Amino acid sequence: MAAAGLLVAATAGAAFAQSAAQKAVAARQEQYKQLGAAFKTINDELKAGSPDMAAIGAAAGKMNTLAGKIPGWFPKGSGVESGAKTRALPAIWSDAAGFAAAQRGFQAETAKLQKVAAAGDLAGVRAQARAVGGGCKSCHDKYRAPEK
Ligand code: HEC
Repeated sequence: MAAAGLLVAATAGAAFAQSAAQKAVAARQEQYKQLGAAFKTINDELKAGSPDMAAIGAAAGKMNTLAGKIPGWFPKGSGVESGAKTRALPAIWSDAAGFAAAQRGFQAETAKLQKVAAAGDLAGVRAQARAVGGGCKSCHDKYRAPEK
């Protein structure tokens, strides 16, 4: 009986850990979608005849805020080992310093984007939007699994 009770408790513990990981995965994927949506706003503006610098600046500010939160989106145990449907690669945790550097670099690029937008510098915004896009790509190349 006692053994059966322990087994139930252990199973419940594993189920809890799994659901916590699943929640973390769902939450970060939702946040990345928002990050992507803000970046799309900027790129759409840049394709427009006369880009709205205020809209670009606001979207860049939103990206900067989200970028600063990335470190909290990857609690230990929320990788593929949790059973959750995630493209987060194990390198996020095994190369934590590299991942942190990618996150900080990206956050800095979004801050620069906000700055050039505030200055009304369209050529600067175009160049900086490319740098921000490069930040997405370099992190994805190293820390995100390709789509299946
Ligand atoms: C510091 C690393 C990093 C940066 C910077 C980054 N991403 Fe990602 N991104 C990831 C990882 C890791 C995942 C996989 C998350 C998962 O599946 O659990 C991801 C997932 C996504 C997703 C998929 C969400 C889903 O529904 O599965 C989108 C969209 C996305 N990123 C867009 C972007 C865009 C756009 C940028 C740049 C503006 C960006 N990301 C910058 C690491 C990063």
